[in-house]
Amino acid sequence: MRLTSEEQDMLDGKYGNAAKKSMEILTTLGEIFNAECMVDVYGVQIAGVSYDNLGEAGLEFLNEMAEDGTIRVLTTLNPAGMDRENWQVLGIDEEFAKNQNRAIDAFAKMGIITTCSCTPYLIGNAPHFGQHLAWAESSAVCYANSVIGARTNREGGPSALASAITGKTPKYGYHLDENRHGQVLVKLNAQVKGTDEFGILGKIIGDKLGELGKKIPYITGIPSATVEELKSFCASVATYGGTALFHMEDITPEYDKYPRPSEIMFEISQQDLNRARSELIDDDIEIDFVSIGCPHASIHEIAEIARLLKGKTVKKEFWITTARPTKKIADETGYSKIIEDAGAKFAADTCCVVAPIKERFKGIMVDSAKACYYGRAKNKFKVKIGSIEACIEEAIK
Ligand code: F3S
Repeated sequence: MRLTSEEQDMLDGKYGNAAKKSMEILTTLGEIFNAECMVDVYGVQIAGVSYDNLGEAGLEFLNEMAEDGTIRVLTTLNPAGMDRENWQVLGIDEEFAKNQNRAIDAFAKMGIITTCSCTPYLIGNAPHFGQHLAWAESSAVCYANSVIGARTNREGGPSALASAITGKTPKYGYHLDENRHGQVLVKLNAQVKGTDEFGILGKIIGDKLGELGKKIPYITGIPSATVEELKSFCASVATYGGTALFHMEDITPEYDKYPRPSEIMFEISQQDLNRARSELIDDDIEIDFVSIGCPHASIHEIAEIARLLKGKTVKKEFWITTARPTKKIADETGYSKIIEDAGAKFAADTCCVVAPIKERFKGIMVDSAKACYYGRAKNKFKVKIGSIEACIEEAIK
């Protein structure tokens, strides 16, 4: 790989041990993927923050990097394993909380903004079109590439941290124009609306792309989509298909920048959507947990939840998962009070997937196809998908 003199100095240890280790990680990655050089990144988002994922080995690596490592670019974190202020109310045990805080402290020591969210683009880690990034959370990577038109590969925890410390990432994959072309033309012959339906659509496309061994769909037939619908779609298509970039005709910024795939590879009908929805509803489910906010809820979604919950009482455990800055806006606008008076709980900094709640509940209702996938796979819950309205109806029933 061609390195600048500054990059070479980092590799030679002239900027300290953390920068040396970071450059070793990045040059190894670059060599594996035949990158010619590094590129400067505007920002970083680090995943694998939950102590559940990190364990002692991960913590040891973080502490070693924190000895002399300092970040060079704007860096935020993915959700942690608990709400950092409200963990007791959510039933997190003390030992876990202690270990989670040790990890957050190591990130903070390096200058990382310890806002833990999978929607960094809603809370100030907000790149613009064309900027290079090193983000790790799959739904955020997909959103950055597709909806914003920024450029990032899906980084692992160590490579994202290495980019934070050096301000660099190897230039390969989605950083290059030639790898951003649509590969599969997908035609939607039905209407989709709401976060649940966009998530279901993402599951269908993701499943199909997996079968075809392709990654980048060019999607037609969607006249409009909100930020919330797109974030749900991104989470789902990334989960079910490993997709980090899609083009949506007339919606995403690069849809007409590259040649449109010439043949329709598959079409999606209302029956397909119905079938996929039924696949995300388990038989004989007994719902004792409802959660909204996968990916993390926007203030717009929280306003809607407050409107629907006003004057009602929830009868089941109900979490709204969001970023702490978004929760602060909800506090200031009075939405939090309405929601908490109804008995629902905010779970800021965390989510129903990364929190250590395996087997704590029998059945979860969510508006997110991604949360269905991990609710089953990681937490062993039965799952049911529905709209935000349906989730709230279930919670107050
Ligand atoms: Fe975010 Fe957790 Fe869903 S990290 S995308 S809320 S699984």
